[in-house]
Amino acid sequence: MVSLVDRNVVVIGGTSGIGLATAVMAKAQGAKVWAVGRSEDRAAAAAEGNPGISFSTLDIHNLDALTTLFESIGIIHHVVAAATGANRTMAPFIEQTDEQFREAFNKFWGYCNVIRKASPYMTDDGSITLLGGFPARKCNPGMSAVSCVGNAVEGLSRALAVEMAPRRVNVVAPGTISTGMFDNLGDKKEEILAKGTQHIPLKRPGQSEEVASAVILTLTNAYMTGTTIDIEGGALLP
Ligand SMILES: NC(=O)c1ccc[n+]([C@@H]2O[C@H](COP(=O)([O-])OP(=O)(O)OC[C@H]3O[C@@H](n4cnc5c(N)ncnc54)[C@H](OP(=O)(O)O)[C@@H]3O)[C@@H](O)[C@H]2O)c1
Repeated sequence: MVSLVDRNVVVIGGTSGIGLATAVMAKAQGAKVWAVGRSEDRAAAAAEGNPGISFSTLDIHNLDALTTLFESIGIIHHVVAAATGANRTMAPFIEQTDEQFREAFNKFWGYCNVIRKASPYMTDDGSITLLGGFPARKCNPGMSAVSCVGNAVEGLSRALAVEMAPRRVNVVAPGTISTGMFDNLGDKKEEILAKGTQHIPLKRPGQSEEVASAVILTLTNAYMTGTTIDIEGGALLP
C-alpha cells in the first residue's frame, strides 16, 4: 500500500460532500491536501472546520485557473475529481432538449480539463480518481443523461488507465449519498433520501465518508487501475 504521508493530494470538488470527506481522510493519513470548489462561501465554511487543508476556489471549466492551481502545487501525487460541475435534468429522454442533455456532460468535460491540466505535474506513481455514479449501470426512467455521463466517466478511466500507465486511473461510483448535492430539497432532504432508498438492500442513503474510504483505497492500493468501485448499498442488485 502507498502511504499518504507527505503525498500531495488535490481534490477538485473538495469543499462539500464526498470530496470534502476524502480531503479530510487524506489529511488524517498524513497527506498534504488541496481542496477546491466553486463557491467562496462553501470553501470558507469547509476551511473553518478543517485547518491544515488548503481550500481555494475555481470553476472546473476554467482552464487557466486549473493551470494556475496545479502549477502552484508543483508536484502532484493524487488527483480526485469529485465536482458535480453541471446541471442535471431528470426527465424522459424524448422530453429533454439537446441543450439539457448536453449540459449534463459538463461534469465529464470538467473531469477532462482536470486530467489534462494535472497530468504534466503528476508523478509516475500517482493516481487519478473520478467520481462516477450508479445510474451508469442501473438507470431508472428519467436518468438517461446522468447514466450516459456515468458511462463516459467509466469508459474514460479504462482508456486512460492504459494510456497513462504507470499512473493509475480509477472510478468510484456512488449510489444515493446524503451530500450537498441534495441541499435543494431543503429540510425535507433526509426524509426524501430515506424514502428514495427503501427499495435497496441497505434501505438508507450512504454517507460521504462511506464513499471517501473507497476513494482513499484507490489512492493507496498501488496495483489498482482501470477499476470501478461501487459504493451503493446494494442499489445495483436486481
Ligand atoms: N451524492 C450522490 O448521491 C451522488 C450520486 C452519484 C454520483 N455522485 C457524484 O459524486 C461526486 C461528488 O458529489 P457530492 O454528492 O459530494 O456533491 P456535493 O456535496 O454537491 O459536492 C460537489 C462539489 O463539487 C464542487 N463543484 C461543483 N461544480 C463545480 C464546478 N463547476 N467547478 C468547481 N467545483 C465544482 C462543489 O463546490 P460548490 O458547491 O462551491 O459549487 C462541491 O465542492 C459528483 O461527481 C457527483 O455527480 C453523487
